[in-house]
Amino acid sequence: MHRIAVLISGQGRNLQALIEAARDGRIAGEIAGVVSNRADAAGLARASAAGIASRILPHEDYARRADFDDALSAALDAWSVDTVALAGFMRVLGDDFVRRFRGRLINIHPSLLPRHPGLRTHERVLENGDHKHGATVHFVTEQLDGGAAIIQGGFMVRPQDTADMLADRVMNEIELRIFPQAVAWMARGDLRLQDDRTWFRGAPLPGPLSPDDLEPAFK
Ligand code: GRF
Repeated sequence: MHRIAVLISGQGRNLQALIEAARDGRIAGEIAGVVSNRADAAGLARASAAGIASRILPHEDYARRADFDDALSAALDAWSVDTVALAGFMRVLGDDFVRRFRGRLINIHPSLLPRHPGLRTHERVLENGDHKHGATVHFVTEQLDGGAAIIQGGFMVRPQDTADMLADRVMNEIELRIFPQAVAWMARGDLRLQDDRTWFRGAPLPGPLSPDDLEPAFK
């Protein structure tokens, strides 16, 4: 059984979607554990309600980033994880960690990458007057929010949209659909990172997959 770790810092709505998809068999894998870098992350309660092991690794307990990354690696090794899913995990991981988990580490980012890497994506969409916004699942590499995209979905920004409304739309219209699908593909061995490109079922992708590519169970 493919073993998945989910890393969180906050509410854990993406985590919840993964829990449900694993529970009903849409993800052919098991969530082996959840790690939060914040003790007050509401997502931790979702893990315990689902009977999933969790660890709290408060980043402020570690003097150097590399020490935090080592503790995280040790926790993931203890669970023998195959795939690590960053689901609203708000800590930058060091290069050594990223290289160690290369090709097994994926992230969901709330923008249409390569637009708006980093923080405050919804505010920046409004400041820029962007017509479109959305979310991207990508492989994690040493470049922040810069690894090869896997699947991306978007929508038209409406004149009345505030940053909070955009955050809700990104979560409900895009993230909760594309992230479980991406993890399901990982669990099935459909995805690979090779030469900084995403390979899907044995061929390099010309661009990210889209919501049109969702399997019926994820629509
Ligand atoms: C998501 O929008 C994610 O893309 C961003 O933080 C949010 C996490 O929400 N980085 P949740 O913890 O999954 O509820």
